[in-house]
Amino acid sequence: MAGTRTFTMIKPDGVEDNNIGNILQMITDAGFTIKAMKLTRLSTEQAQEFYAIHAERPFYGELVEYMTSGPIIAAILEKDNAVEDFRTLIGATNPAEAAEGTIRAKYAESIGRNAVHGSDSDENAEIEGNFHFPVAEVVA
Ligand code: CMP
Repeated sequence: MAGTRTFTMIKPDGVEDNNIGNILQMITDAGFTIKAMKLTRLSTEQAQEFYAIHAERPFYGELVEYMTSGPIIAAILEKDNAVEDFRTLIGATNPAEAAEGTIRAKYAESIGRNAVHGSDSDENAEIEGNFHFPVAEVVA
């Protein structure tokens, strides 16, 4: 059975472009409940660890530099079928390929500056949520 939680970040471009409110509105309108949320800024070490899975990719350095360039919003979201439904809501990684009406089609600039992150599996949703929030900070 699909899990009920996913993890998201509003990336530095989403925060810088004043789209925190717009993006959170789309998320809650789509039926997600916010279980934990914070405004934070990743250190280089945190970004390297969070994106360790991409360490061998040519864009890794750029990705770490970008994700540490400004504040982000990190949040744990709840809904039935959370991971898949959230990925549908945000659209394709490259906003040029994102379906109309998705968060990335509306607010993302490029494949790097793509406004939001969404976990790609239930397993990663748990790992990524735990990376940012101790269990005590997640609302029951
Ligand atoms: P996300 O899926 O949230 O996490 C990995 C990120 O790497 C992805 O979003 C993109 O922002 C980024 N990424 C993927 N492919 C590229 C690329 N070719 N060039 C730059 N960044 C990329």
